[in-house]
Amino acid sequence: MSRLVRVTLVAFLGLCALSLVDLAAETDAPFSWMRPDKFDYINDMFSAVTGENCRSKPAEQLNLPRETIAQIPKYNNLLSTVIYSNRSAMLHMHNMALNRAFFYSFIYQKLNNTWDFLNQPGLQYYYMSAAADVSASPGFLNGSALYFDFNCSYPNWFRTYPFNNTIPFFGPRAWRADDYNEPTNFLREPTNNTMDIHDYGAGRDSNYSNSAYKTNPWYSFWMPDITGETDSLRKFTYSVGIKYSNTTGHFISDEFEDTSFFGPPQPSQTDGDQSLPVLFTSPYFDCGRSNKWIVSATAPVVEYFPRYSRYIHLRRPRFVAVSTMDTEFERIDMNQCPQAEGNPPPNYFAGTDRCKGTTMCEPISGYGFKRGGYQCVCQPGYYYPWFHDGPFLGWEIEEAARDEYEVGFDCIAVDERQVIPNVMPEFVERKKRSVLSKKTEFLEMTLPKAQSPRPSPRQKRHLVARLKDYKEKLLREKRSKLVARTKRDTSRKIHRNKRDAVDEIAANRFENILQRMYQTKPENCQSKQAHELYLPGDAGHGVEKLFEAQGRTALRLAHFLSNFLQNVDEYEEFGNLRGDRRLNETHIFAEVIANVMSDFKIKGSGVFFDRYKFRMSPPVNNTDPRFTDGITREFFGPYAYKLELKDEGLDYYKAIDFAGFKDYYVDASWYRDMKARWATNQYGLKKFTAKPMIRSNPMGTSLIRFEYYPLTYRAPRYEDGEWLRPQFKCDGMVNDWVVTYVVPFFGKNSLKTEIEFKGVVTVEAKLDYLDINQCPAEFHSANSFKNTARCHFESQYCVPSEGKRFTRGGYKCECRQGYEYPFNDLAWFFDGQTMEEEWRKLSAGEPNRYATLKCRIAGASSVAASVVMTLILACAVSAWTRT
Ligand SMILES: *[C@@H]1O[C@H](CO)[C@@H](O)[C@H](O)[C@H]1NC(C)=O
Ligand SMILES: *[C@@H]1O[C@H](CO)[C@@H](O)[C@H](O)[C@H]1NC(C)=O
Ligand SMILES: *[C@@H]1O[C@H](CO)[C@@H](O)[C@H](O)[C@H]1NC(C)=O
Ligand SMILES: *[C@@H]1O[C@H](CO)[C@@H](O)[C@H](O)[C@H]1NC(C)=O
Ligand SMILES: *[C@@H]1O[C@H](CO)[C@@H](O)[C@H](O)[C@H]1NC(C)=O
Ligand SMILES: *[C@@H]1O[C@H](CO)[C@@H](O)[C@H](O)[C@H]1NC(C)=O
Ligand SMILES: *[C@@H]1O[C@H](CO)[C@@H](O)[C@H](O)[C@H]1NC(C)=O
Ligand SMILES: *[C@@H]1O[C@H](CO)[C@@H](O)[C@H](O)[C@H]1NC(C)=O
Ligand SMILES: *[C@@H]1O[C@H](CO)[C@@H](O)[C@H](O)[C@H]1NC(C)=O
Repeated sequence: MSRLVRVTLVAFLGLCALSLVDLAAETDAPFSWMRPDKFDYINDMFSAVTGENCRSKPAEQLNLPRETIAQIPKYNNLLSTVIYSNRSAMLHMHNMALNRAFFYSFIYQKLNNTWDFLNQPGLQYYYMSAAADVSASPGFLNGSALYFDFNCSYPNWFRTYPFNNTIPFFGPRAWRADDYNEPTNFLREPTNNTMDIHDYGAGRDSNYSNSAYKTNPWYSFWMPDITGETDSLRKFTYSVGIKYSNTTGHFISDEFEDTSFFGPPQPSQTDGDQSLPVLFTSPYFDCGRSNKWIVSATAPVVEYFPRYSRYIHLRRPRFVAVSTMDTEFERIDMNQCPQAEGNPPPNYFAGTDRCKGTTMCEPISGYGFKRGGYQCVCQPGYYYPWFHDGPFLGWEIEEAARDEYEVGFDCIAVDERQVIPNVMPEFVERKKRSVLSKKTEFLEMTLPKAQSPRPSPRQKRHLVARLKDYKEKLLREKRSKLVARTKRDTSRKIHRNKRDAVDEIAANRFENILQRMYQTKPENCQSKQAHELYLPGDAGHGVEKLFEAQGRTALRLAHFLSNFLQNVDEYEEFGNLRGDRRLNETHIFAEVIANVMSDFKIKGSGVFFDRYKFRMSPPVNNTDPRFTDGITREFFGPYAYKLELKDEGLDYYKAIDFAGFKDYYVDASWYRDMKARWATNQYGLKKFTAKPMIRSNPMGTSLIRFEYYPLTYRAPRYEDGEWLRPQFKCDGMVNDWVVTYVVPFFGKNSLKTEIEFKGVVTVEAKLDYLDINQCPAEFHSANSFKNTARCHFESQYCVPSEGKRFTRGGYKCECRQGYEYPFNDLAWFFDGQTMEEEWRKLSAGEPNRYATLKCRIAGASSVAASVVMTLILACAVSAWTRT
């Protein structure tokens, strides 16, 4: 290299470096482009409060604005809107709060006679119910409570307290404890299996009706309920029919016995927020307890109050307690995207995303209260640059420095967009591409868009060379195709590439499954063969994820029963404290009824006790010596189900004891399988620990440890239960397609030495709410619908959509990298339903535009702004201006 050139080069590089340093100095620090926004404001409030300083903070610093939680599930919209996975935990909290509200409302009003006083839930019932809410739903909720209003609860566990007297405050609350530092926890990692249970109505600072109490936002929603002005609006009468059985194979009566009770409000679609049965609090700091920012779903418990009084005229339905379910604020997904149809106000964080103008924002679920839970997808009419694979991720943008942000994260405009053609039959019929189209394709590929129509001689030479290459390439392709075809023919082995075809065998099977499903109806199910009432097991793919909340509702009951049957000894007394009696059948009926009433996806729910495992207390005033130790029923299977009355709008609920049927439920295969697994071998059950602190006396002077501290019980996990294959239940009760979850529960054996299998809890979820996934999947994925999406896989990939239910077409076909969406219709993907419909037309020989529903190769835009180019240019320009 000559000396001159070297000197110039060095000089040029030096200048260039100088100018770059200059450029940097003119602007601010690399991260200053991120201006503080509403997220920072909330984050400051969030981190300013800790467990140590919260007591001294004023109330307004312990609450965050209500709008920080967007898209709160509303009872009267649940059926008409799609609840996405980013709100499924909140929906479960909503349903569990309602579940407890229904349970206690029912049980108080059903067992309202004075002689039922001891059959009402006892102290341990409350504690174990709250513990089960928490232990059965990790990942969904972390706290469960029932707070009674002043003088609204009748305790039946103080032996010397008159039965018609109330106690001032009573608020048993369970929350997940951080047990990483326990002596028994040698892993030093929270196990999620330990619960603290305290009575908030006891000890110092127990007046949670007081506005100075700071952390009681749940109280003022429902209480105090003194005047009764809003009774007609906010209380609703529910009615449940129950059919009891007293001996195996017989019902006491052929009729359902009707029970009406007052419960939480039942709003119509148009009613406002005032009459919703479940209200969410704004985020508040749970000071002194879990010491976290939490959000509670609250629902009211209604009782005909006062329950025991000679002055009947004083009685009215009254909100006596509020049931709450808590979750951490940090776990609730926020939506940083701008307000839009899918992101309605109020949303405090709307518009704090950092997507650039050529992209638009889409939320990603599972981020919680953390920046970057979104991705920037190209606006309609733009495509991703070649060097970037798919959407720009929010968290990548959030950690970009200024320079990166300014040059990157932009999509490139699509040129020459088309308008969606209406039907174009000749387009479909044209089988072979004409020579002309090859030529235009070639020209499109080689000629930059901005070029003048008449190429210069130099360009012409270039073109001819490229044309030669291109022809050769075509020839090569043709040859290799021929070779491939002959190869396939000779070997007769079908090697199907997931990317290039729909699995027609699977598509046919899909069709048959849908047909079977649509053709089986309540009217004709009796005449169907037994196998026609089932779908294959792989038709229920994804159910364990999508219906996890429903499964966990059954699991909760299994946890409660396990805890109760392992720890409550019906003869125990603790001084003035009376231990719980045995479970009453009404309790379990109420539990299954509450399961069905509180969740619109649950069609039926039951508890099925094993043979001779349900023991009852002796009848009142018993004289029969056989029954002094109580009665043991051969079978007990309370089962509740929902009758959907479409015309009247309201559902009706019924419950029946399966012991009354002539066919024993213990002979059903779902029962036998569960029992076979768990009857002799309980390996794998988890141990749960509850630490109950109770009130020392009726007035709640102080909080003391319960006699058994801590309480432990062994219970199944969600994975220990089983989802059965989809079935049409043609039993005159459910009469619908359902998927059933079965989970066992365990109690002490009769010698109280070991635990044993006691029965199963079931929940039946409506199959129609299951989304199906038609997208390509691995060969081992047990999904009968995989590989049936009608995308054009050469240019598109398939993304399953949420909330499309059990029908065809619940997916999107999005353009692959290097391809672009060709139409000018504000979309950037092809909808699965359109693809399916056009495909149907195509196979029926009707005019269609299936062949046009493809992405086209992204045109290399003339200013394919490469980062390197820009930098060099900037360098050169600055160097040049300096000299
Ligand atoms: C118990 O409740 C039922 C139904 O609400 C009512 O008819 C009955 O009078 C109540 N009994 C007592 C003792 O309050
Ligand atoms: C506890 O729960 C959290 C959140 O659901 C989960 O991430 C964690 O893995 C769980 N811990 C254990 C030991 O299971
Ligand atoms: C409780 O019952 C007793 C006896 O029936 C009665 O004398 C007393 O007034 C009742 N107390 C209340 C608070 O109703
Ligand atoms: C609360 O209940 C107790 C016991 O039933 C009773 O003595 C007291 O007067 C009640 N207080 C009020 C304000 O009603
Ligand atoms: C609880 O606080 C409220 C509001 O300050 C007050 O009216 C009520 O008397 C208090 N109750 C008790 C039992 O201290
Ligand atoms: C069950 O109820 C029926 C109808 O009330 C009655 O006739 C029968 O004696 C009862 N059986 C038992 C074992 O209590
Ligand atoms: C529940 O608590 C555990 C342990 O503290 C935590 O990891 C988890 O995120 C919490 N989950 C919810 C839903 O609040
Ligand atoms: C949840 O996801 C849906 C669908 O992606 C979206 O429309 C909605 O805005 C998301 N909600 C939140 C709070 O992120
Ligand atoms: C359950 O409660 C009902 C209503 O009080 C009562 O008739 C029944 O005898 C109780 N059953 C048992 C087993 O105690």
